Amino acid sequence: MTSRVLMVLVTMVGCIQAADKYWDYIVVGAGPGGLQMGHFLQKAGRNYVLLERNSVVASFFQKYPRHDKLISINKRHTGKKNTEFNLRHDWNSLLSDDKSLLFRHYSKLFFPQRVQLLDYMADYQKKLGINVQFHTEVSNIRKETNATTNKTVFLMDDQNGNTLKCKVLIVASGLSKPVEPTFEGREFTENYSNVSINPDDYEGKTVVILGRGNSAFELAESIYGSTNFIHMIGRSRVRLSWATHYVGDLRAVNVALLDTYQLKSLDAVLEATVHEEAMRLVKVKDRLKVVVNMNGSEISLQNYDHFPMRELYDKVIVCFGFQFDNSIFSSSLNITKSEDEEDKFPLIGYDYQLRDVEDLYIAGGASHGPDYRKSSGGFIHGFRYTGSRPHRMLEWKYEGVPWPSISILSTDLLATIIKRINEGSGFYQMFGMLGDVMAIRSSGEEIEYLEEVPVNLLDRLSEITGHSYDEVIVLILQYGANYSGPDKDVFRSDRATAQPEISYKSNFLHPVFFHYRHLPTAEQMSSKTKYEILPRPDHMHHIVEDFLTLWDAPSSHHLPLRRYLETVLDRDLRTFYASDCFEMAMLHQMVPLYCQQYYLSGRGIVKAEPLFQQS
Ligand SMILES: *[C@@H]1O[C@H](CO)[C@@H](O)[C@H](O)[C@H]1NC(C)=O
Ligand SMILES: *[C@@H]1O[C@H](CO)[C@@H](O)[C@H](O)[C@H]1NC(C)=O
Ligand SMILES: *[C@@H]1O[C@H](CO)[C@@H](O)[C@H](O)[C@H]1NC(C)=O
Ligand SMILES: *[C@@H]1O[C@H](CO)[C@@H](O)[C@H](O)[C@H]1NC(C)=O
Ligand SMILES: *[C@@H]1O[C@H](CO)[C@@H](O)[C@H](O)[C@H]1NC(C)=O
Ligand SMILES: *[C@@H]1O[C@H](CO)[C@@H](O)[C@H](O)[C@H]1NC(C)=O
Ligand SMILES: *[C@@H]1O[C@H](CO)[C@@H](O)[C@H](O)[C@H]1NC(C)=O
Repeated sequence: MTSRVLMVLVTMVGCIQAADKYWDYIVVGAGPGGLQMGHFLQKAGRNYVLLERNSVVASFFQKYPRHDKLISINKRHTGKKNTEFNLRHDWNSLLSDDKSLLFRHYSKLFFPQRVQLLDYMADYQKKLGINVQFHTEVSNIRKETNATTNKTVFLMDDQNGNTLKCKVLIVASGLSKPVEPTFEGREFTENYSNVSINPDDYEGKTVVILGRGNSAFELAESIYGSTNFIHMIGRSRVRLSWATHYVGDLRAVNVALLDTYQLKSLDAVLEATVHEEAMRLVKVKDRLKVVVNMNGSEISLQNYDHFPMRELYDKVIVCFGFQFDNSIFSSSLNITKSEDEEDKFPLIGYDYQLRDVEDLYIAGGASHGPDYRKSSGGFIHGFRYTGSRPHRMLEWKYEGVPWPSISILSTDLLATIIKRINEGSGFYQMFGMLGDVMAIRSSGEEIEYLEEVPVNLLDRLSEITGHSYDEVIVLILQYGANYSGPDKDVFRSDRATAQPEISYKSNFLHPVFFHYRHLPTAEQMSSKTKYEILPRPDHMHHIVEDFLTLWDAPSSHHLPLRRYLETVLDRDLRTFYASDCFEMAMLHQMVPLYCQQYYLSGRGIVKAEPLFQQS
């Protein structure tokens, strides 16, 4: 009797446990990328959940970076109160409407500690009420089509045997799996994930660090005062972020070992391939010998007796960074890695959708593939935008809500643009990737303005925004074409120009406008050279770079821009006082567009003053 009751109970519990659960949107991972997406889904009132395997949000930061110090800047003061502008220099906050959720309230350190980010992320989730289901580890993600309804859903299992289902899947699990080089003797190496960070463990030791990234240099810096010396090995030359303008390259805050190398204080940096065909480690008593192959044969000390790594080492540490973990997907889904040299990212398009799996999107750090080594999409200050702009695409694609846009009079365009180029944070952080689009309506009298659209999808603009456009002006920010690079002298005396006449030679980040009478085709988008962000437009305009990144100068910044817009729209965009308009209306048959739009039609009557003085 009792055992029967028990059996029934067990069956019932089993039933409850094996329940199917459905949401429209599942976000896998509650790190910064997942939380940002969660906030937008929450705000839009969607049926969604974030599935997090740990008991806290942003759990990666419970352990990493090992040395506690983040390299994303916490710039608390800019001298400005404008929230949007300040986000240009705030690299840790996620986007929200809650001003208490700015990272500046969580740390005074310019390079904050990881625990401070953990606190911030926890508050972000709680205050915004983002729906997170903790302790849920998903696996075997697959796709199924219902034969009767012909609808596809994603299915996945959790560790308790539940099947979780959704219509749209967003994977925001970050780069969580260490990159593991393979070579003989790998078992003798120590690894970034659990190597000692106590300098005392390196007293009088000779150390090799395999890897060239920020974590490798940070480790080196923390121990180089204790070691005999450190050799750092990487495949390619050192890439300094101040030269490449890529925040993922070696940051100035971590370069200490370059000093001791160039000043010949025993530490050194060299280039070699770390791979099973190129090297192996051999134990010699309790020390390690690095044996290197070159052109297929081992370098022998007999004929190359000044081989740089001929001394024995005490520790070899692998510091190769992290990659996307695709083990959560069933092999029935075709999850391919990107074609970049490091294979770190899943292969996605500029719409952040998997190339080969419809309705599956990547958000957060793993969505960096399309702008790897170009822009900031691998970092909080980048993917908070590239995680939210795709959200707008999802809203159109799945919910029928078009991309937000505002309609303005063409005589207001100049003022709108000037405000955007001096404030807009999304296209500032995601330079070359996101841009404002101005669609020209009513033969130049009206403009429809869209903020921060992925410009690489320009040929599909109507499809992704839900508006049908043809003639557009696109505004992006960019560095000079040949200015950035690991071997470029970015401090040379002619690095910047001050002359508006040659603004196209600007090197530092500056606004660039592209006017297309017709949207570029897919073919034009794919046939641009690597120096071009967008295909050749009908009219192009650069605003000269500015030392203050403040484009507020009436004659150097605004006048050339107005002339450009006047050419493109074939309209007079000057602004006038009301009294002048009335005088002109008395004396002439035609009055300028501004007078028509503001004083005669009455549409803009609220603005009694000209926006800008005439030059
Ligand atoms: C397919 O959809 C129909 C209608 O919603 C439903 O009744 C049926 O159970 C579904 N089939 C499967 C295999 O899920
Ligand atoms: C099911 O949907 C797919 C893609 O949405 C479509 O190509 C196919 O023709 C549809 N099949 C049926 C039977 O409706
Ligand atoms: C480092 O990783 C390699 C490969 O996974 C492993 O063989 C080795 O034992 C690890 N070293 C330590 C100290 O954990
Ligand atoms: C590091 O982790 C590996 C397993 O991943 C383990 O074998 C090793 O003992 C750990 N090393 C240290 C120093 O804790
Ligand atoms: C390896 O090959 C390259 C060209 O293939 C050659 O320039 C170089 O000298 C070779 N190095 C050695 C050590 O033989
Ligand atoms: C999987 O993706 C690769 C790379 O994009 C492609 O070549 C291949 O055809 C795809 N396979 C399937 C079954 O979709
Ligand atoms: C940049 O350099 C490339 C290769 O040297 C050259 O083809 C291109 O014209 C240069 N672009 C500019 C804007 O100077």
